Amino acid sequence: MTAHVVEDTQPRREQAAAGDLLIETRNLTKRYGARIVAVDNLNLNVRRGEVYGFLGPNGAGKTTTLRMLLGLIRPTSGTARVLDLEPGVPAGLARVGALVESPAFYPYLSGRDNLRVLARYCGAGDAQITDALARVELSDRAKDKFKIYSLGMKQRLGVAGALLKNPDLLILDEPTNGLDPQGIAEMRTLIRAIGQGTRTVMLSSHLLGEVEQICDRVGVIQSGRLVAEGTLAELRGPGGLLVRAEPLDDAWQAVQNLPDVTGARIVDGAIQLATNPANAAAINRALVQAGLAVSELRPSTNSLEQVFFELTEGASAQQTPGAPQGAAIQQQGAGTGVRQ
Ligand SMILES: Nc1ncnc2c1ncn2[C@@H]1O[C@H](COP(=O)(O)OP(=O)(O)O)[C@@H](O)[C@H]1O
Ligand SMILES: [Mg+2]
Repeated sequence: MTAHVVEDTQPRREQAAAGDLLIETRNLTKRYGARIVAVDNLNLNVRRGEVYGFLGPNGAGKTTTLRMLLGLIRPTSGTARVLDLEPGVPAGLARVGALVESPAFYPYLSGRDNLRVLARYCGAGDAQITDALARVELSDRAKDKFKIYSLGMKQRLGVAGALLKNPDLLILDEPTNGLDPQGIAEMRTLIRAIGQGTRTVMLSSHLLGEVEQICDRVGVIQSGRLVAEGTLAELRGPGGLLVRAEPLDDAWQAVQNLPDVTGARIVDGAIQLATNPANAAAINRALVQAGLAVSELRPSTNSLEQVFFELTEGASAQQTPGAPQGAAIQQQGAGTGVRQ
């Protein structure tokens, strides 16, 4: 997706220079057997220092992609570079922390002792263990056995484990899945804090609201394909004009012939036009001349829900049965009519 919008409503850190890519995939593809294309010619660009949201419905190919980036599975075709290295080489893994699927810890060891086990692999000392526990707010519970931790605490210990080697890149696969609202809020705050400064975070999620809260840039994956990549402002697009005119069907016919309008759809009984808002007067005149009663005409911004609904439309057919309802991106935008 191209970048036309520079303004963004969320506070942003200065963007890393484009071209300084920490993760770069070119036509990355993973097939399972003859029929399943889990990841389909993916071209991702994750820049140094950003918190990148990898957004897509269940089954879109997020975990498969992250596993390829970590060298846990091999691509069928295409390439990936992580920290300018082949995925999975020891020099790269030393600088990448990851939490993909539930962390494997020893149930009868304390949180601290579990981190000691991990620290041995990456050469971290006691001070780093203490720091990591403080970072994820587990200092008070460090002596408790892992098995009595809540799910949120287990996930946070997983993040602490990933932080032990002070990684340049942290890869987190749906770290809030299954957590209660408080656990979700704590994890989101933690990820934002970890993403400050020069560290790069790649976070996968099926929740638009989550990446909206946490991320600098977003890549949207749908059926293994990258359907958009950019800041949320870029994805939202330049907006347009909202027109309310009666009768609606006649108004709909009239806008089809307007010059300088690149698209139109009906949203809650009004017509959303993709056009420069400066065309408002000309459009008003054209509609009035066509005998329509125009009751409202104003600049509008696209809702992210609508944009994502359109980007990931058709996802519901592939949705995992029993997946949580109501918050997943493919279900947003309900109540909005779209006419071609
Ligand atoms: N080992 C596997 N064998 C066969 N199909 C797989 C395997 N792993 C994943 N898939 C399929 O690949 C697609 C993408 O899965 P996944 O990467 O787990 O999606 P996401 O993490 O976005 O929910 C799904 O259709 C899934 O069933
Ligand atoms: Mg997954």
